[in-house]
Amino acid sequence: MSHDLEAIAQRALELISEDSVVGLGTGHAATAFIHALGRKVADGFRIRGIPTSQASAELAQTLGIALSSLDEVEAIDVDVDGADEVDPQGSLIKGYGGALVREKIVAAASRRLVILVGEEKLVPQLGAHGRLPVEVVPFALETCARRLAGLGFPSEARRRDDHLFVTDNGNYILDCRIQPLPRPEETQRAIRDIPGVVGTGLFLGMGPTVLIGKGGKVELREYGGDGQRNRR
Ligand code: A5P
Repeated sequence: MSHDLEAIAQRALELISEDSVVGLGTGHAATAFIHALGRKVADGFRIRGIPTSQASAELAQTLGIALSSLDEVEAIDVDVDGADEVDPQGSLIKGYGGALVREKIVAAASRRLVILVGEEKLVPQLGAHGRLPVEVVPFALETCARRLAGLGFPSEARRRDDHLFVTDNGNYILDCRIQPLPRPEETQRAIRDIPGVVGTGLFLGMGPTVLIGKGGKVELREYGGDGQRNRR
């Protein structure tokens, strides 16, 4: 585990109160956080976790973190997750790890969203890294790919080993090749309007707290939300 991930995971722990409900993200940064949380739980700290993926659920269970399903809690106090891109407004691209749909559901149900990244994830405009994951129902794979291409986003179905990658929801991922997006809200609407699309990796206007790791130091940035967190 990198020194930076360890440092941001430790800093994120300071934002978690005892007896709170904590969203457990997916990916390297979230995994570092779950390990740090597991060590604190082993020392007697009580929280309840809501995992965003099967992988994070399994890790949390092996570390003795008590889990609940989203249905069992009224709200999540803090959700801690990673991101693939963070723009100057605090909007995000997520989903390179394939858990974008559950991650967005948990983020939208959380009072506070804490995002853990290295500074290589900070971009001037969303799309700078050239990739936007879109989850689609298997029945609509080809029709969604054609419609996305029609919007100017050629895509490839994500594969793992010799097979199509299947999400925890039983769906497929189309990885769109994109340029930096001048109007991500419009892109979001246009893609979500395609029948068969379950969700996109665009997390817009969620007002996260972003912890940025650099050389073992951690910078905390607060972003304002647009008040529409639960509608996206
Ligand atoms: C998982 O689907 C993703 O959204 C991850 O949260 C994101 O890809 C960041 O992952 P890393 O921390 O592994 O870079």
